[in-house]
Amino acid sequence: MKKEMKDYHKLLSDEVSLDPIDWEAMRRLGHRMVDDMMDRLQKVRHEPSWRKIPDETKEFLKTNIPQSPQEIEKIYGEFRRHILPYPSGNIHPRFWAWVQGTGTPFGMLAEMLAAAMNPNTALGEHAAMYVEQQVLNWCKEMMNYPQSSSGILVSGGSMANITALMVARNHQTGKNIRKDGVRAVKGNLTLYCSTETHSCVEKAVEVMGIGSNSLRKISVDENYRINTDELKRAIESDLASGNSPFCVIGNAGTVNTGAIDPLEELLSVARKHGLWFHIDGAFGALAKMVPEYANRLSAIEEADSVAFDLHKWMYMPFEVGCVLIRDATAHRDAFSSEPNYLMNHERGLAAGPDPMGNYGLELSRGFKALKVWMSLKEHGIQKYAAAIRQNIAQAFYLGKLIEREERLELLTPVSMNVVCFRYRRKDFSDERLNSLNKEIVMSLQEAGIASPSSTILGGKYAIRVANTNHRSRKEDFDEFVRETVRIGDRLQA
Ligand SMILES: Cc1ncc(COP(=O)(O)O)c(C=O)c1O
Repeated sequence: MKKEMKDYHKLLSDEVSLDPIDWEAMRRLGHRMVDDMMDRLQKVRHEPSWRKIPDETKEFLKTNIPQSPQEIEKIYGEFRRHILPYPSGNIHPRFWAWVQGTGTPFGMLAEMLAAAMNPNTALGEHAAMYVEQQVLNWCKEMMNYPQSSSGILVSGGSMANITALMVARNHQTGKNIRKDGVRAVKGNLTLYCSTETHSCVEKAVEVMGIGSNSLRKISVDENYRINTDELKRAIESDLASGNSPFCVIGNAGTVNTGAIDPLEELLSVARKHGLWFHIDGAFGALAKMVPEYANRLSAIEEADSVAFDLHKWMYMPFEVGCVLIRDATAHRDAFSSEPNYLMNHERGLAAGPDPMGNYGLELSRGFKALKVWMSLKEHGIQKYAAAIRQNIAQAFYLGKLIEREERLELLTPVSMNVVCFRYRRKDFSDERLNSLNKEIVMSLQEAGIASPSSTILGGKYAIRVANTNHRSRKEDFDEFVRETVRIGDRLQA
């Protein structure tokens, strides 16, 4: 044997793999983990809604990279001691902070199956690619959106919005923005949304090279809905100054208050000027399945694109968002790329559906679709609609509790699943109430009672509840109000 080959034999005589040496031990631990996590989810109501992370854990989480193998039992022990007890708490029945869904036990199991199969859902002839296509078709059904449209599952609302806006930018200008950049367009590219629009839209506009100064933020009415007259004037003014308006963005549920913009009016303004109409329905779009909201959200069916999250008001484990684009060709034109190492073949592994990289920014993608596919089968869409309807009814119930309690004040009427209010004292200034209410929020969280978040409305600090929680019950809101008043009374005294 040649020396060179001998060297290879020697080098490869002890090949490593990352599979377990003791499969049985791994299997036993896996079963225990599943049992522990099921227990956890089943009993989460009896846990505090949040716990402070001890310094010891923070120190532990600064240790250096492990150089050599550690026992899996020990690693799991560390997880149980330092990580598991300190979650953000969005699986808890009294978590209503920001807009975060709750997850489900079956969703957790689906994540395990997806991780075991571990496909890269970017391209190729394998089942995950078809599961995603089916899930996208189901999303179209949910929104009553044309089946001829296209879509893609993404990490969340932010990615869904930027994906849609990139398609809008490329399609509307009729220029080869992909090659020539935005300078190919005469004047500034301008787009329009309300001041209540989520900050991810501004970020998207910055990343796309349009610049946030060209995102015209239109004022809102007393119900936090966009002023369409001001919108019309802004478009006219941009046209008169030689700018290039290309897109109107409507909100189906604003992040602050859950307001739904007058979407039909926005649609007609967009159509009149030949602009792209995009809807950010990160959570609110899902209320379309609730009969009382179907009409207000019916413009989604006509929109050029809609972004919504399945990890918010469909209660799927993080992360999974969705964007649907009415014109599938425009969608593909914005992202398609066919390098020779990603060539599609007629048969074999490299056959299969159109690669997903032709519809979004990412190439490598996990199997997000499986948890959606399995969860929708587990419950059926009607049960999701019922849970969403229940969350809205709970928010209105909370609104009533607040109205009945004279030490609390609703800061805006409840319109969907978001409730903004504050503890009040007639003799306190707004400034004093702002710091008092901030203390109340932190105290509620630190006591593990409930996790609302906060916002500022008209200069007033608001305790904010966004209910996308299928575990919340009526009594959770009773307790929340009782405790808010108790803590407020104690702090102001
Ligand atoms: C209305 C709205 N749009 C966009 C987003 C961003 O979504 P994500 O956090 O999934 O990126 C959110 C997040 O809460 C939202 O409420």
